Amino acid sequence: MKSQLLIFTLAFLLLYTTSCTKKTPTTTGVDFTLDLTQPANAALKKTSGSLISHEILIMHFANNYFATASVCSYGTCTLAFNDTTAQITCKCHSCRFDINGVVKKAPATINIKRYNAVLIGNDLSITGS
Ligand code: FES
Repeated sequence: MKSQLLIFTLAFLLLYTTSCTKKTPTTTGVDFTLDLTQPANAALKKTSGSLISHEILIMHFANNYFATASVCSYGTCTLAFNDTTAQITCKCHSCRFDINGVVKKAPATINIKRYNAVLIGNDLSITGS
């Protein structure tokens, strides 16, 4: 019985530690504009709204716009904005980043890339390298 528990524990740890491949975020050369009058971008009209476009997570929070990579720096999971905590979360292993992409909770140790987000009229410009 003890050996079965040990095997199960080892299998779980192996699966847990290898299901994410650590990598550095690689999205480069970002330069696009979203028309916030379009229905596809409606989530960004409201405060605390967010969406992913061009593999970038774009957030509207506290009367400002923020943009970061949409993929976790610890693995390959897609990130989501939690407007209650004002943090970006990864569902795979529960790491968290602040709204600027800085790691707040492990297992991630690498910040996610932040991009510029500038609103002019109804056009939200996202740029960065
Ligand atoms: S991919 Fe595992 S914590 Fe994000």
